[in-house]
Amino acid sequence: MSGNGSIPFLDLVSLHDELEEELLPVFQRVLKTAGFIGGPVVDQFEQEFGFFCDTAYCIGVASGTDAVRFALMAAGVRSGDVVVTVPHTFIATTEAISQAGARPDFVDIDERTHGMDPNKLRQYLEQECEVDAKNGRLIHRKWNAPVTAIVPVHIYGQVVDMDPIIELAGLYNLIVVEDACQAHGAEYFSRTQNRWMKAGSMGDVGAFSFYPGKNLGACGEAGAVTTNNERVASKIRLLRDHGQSRKYYHQVEGYNGRLDAIQAGILQVKLRHLAEWNRQRRASAEYYRELMEGNWPDLSIPFEPSWSRSVYHLYVVRTLERDKLQQHLTMRGIGTGIHYPIPVHLQDAYRSMGFKRGDFPVAEDVAAQVLSLPMFPGLTAQQQRRVVEEIACFEKTAEEESLQPVRV
Ligand SMILES: Cc1ncc(COP(=O)(O)O)c(C=O)c1O
Repeated sequence: MSGNGSIPFLDLVSLHDELEEELLPVFQRVLKTAGFIGGPVVDQFEQEFGFFCDTAYCIGVASGTDAVRFALMAAGVRSGDVVVTVPHTFIATTEAISQAGARPDFVDIDERTHGMDPNKLRQYLEQECEVDAKNGRLIHRKWNAPVTAIVPVHIYGQVVDMDPIIELAGLYNLIVVEDACQAHGAEYFSRTQNRWMKAGSMGDVGAFSFYPGKNLGACGEAGAVTTNNERVASKIRLLRDHGQSRKYYHQVEGYNGRLDAIQAGILQVKLRHLAEWNRQRRASAEYYRELMEGNWPDLSIPFEPSWSRSVYHLYVVRTLERDKLQQHLTMRGIGTGIHYPIPVHLQDAYRSMGFKRGDFPVAEDVAAQVLSLPMFPGLTAQQQRRVVEEIACFEKTAEEESLQPVRV
């Protein structure tokens, strides 16, 4: 708890204070060699993060947005393709799809997990698309364009139910790019493989963001792509570095999308702590559950299916009174967030695509009801009790008000 009794939504200052002794030598080392872009520190971090994710290759890039974009391009998405994702995500997912030259399209999310609903994906593929008899490609009926990839988003740190998605992708020959930007270290029990698998290791490619507030965050912008496909990995190495495999020999036109050495060094230090931080997040989620489960009929807590080990990037509750609850907590000095208030299909940026309210009702309800409570490594049990006491106080007042006789 801070001096004035307030509780931040996220405490990045204390975390970096604790790591100062480990982090400062990173700057010194990079300054002394002046190897700011690429080089051995980036190579080492890539190896270590690939190992952490159980993938053969990891390619550091400049941001999570670049990671999704390069993943799509390297895996084979072409200009004019349709790429299917969910409307309940950060806009970077669809920006990356558009930047890869494709058209984002959506299927709704599951009511309980808030991730892509595999049944809705099946319906989409069966009812809105058809297989071209001439070449076997899947074509979107309305857009008359090939559907080539699926981007499930592991929102809030919980992996999407991947088995049915991978099965559908196999059936229709679609690329799967996992948007794992919020899910460093999250695990999924695959019934088909009969083992726990890491986020970013199940699709053709995985994309991570190391934006500072993520479970593994840089001190600036950074991202990475993970894959077991050597060809895809080489292509991403080209794309991130102006299409060059040797300095000034450009095989294709690429981008300036490299991971810099200072960020890689910082991420290397923090990666050593990630498993423990994720453990702390899971323990805090469990304690929130103990404190809140079943207490109030109108407030639901995160649902973690038996096949999921979430890393609780965010701890998100749902209530019809979201805005009032947030206001109450703010007044009591408790930081919260809304992830995200407007589903992507209803953002102004996509107005020209012609989506309307009611197209994806689950995502729309979720956007109106979700509230992210304080969640970070180092959050204390006392702070959590205080958060829940304030929620209880809000719920009690709301109940009393609803019992007041209506005056006429
Ligand atoms: C689901 C999702 N996808 C993509 C991104 C983009 O990552 P970045 O901000 O590093 O570009 C983010 C980052 O917040 C994200 O949460």
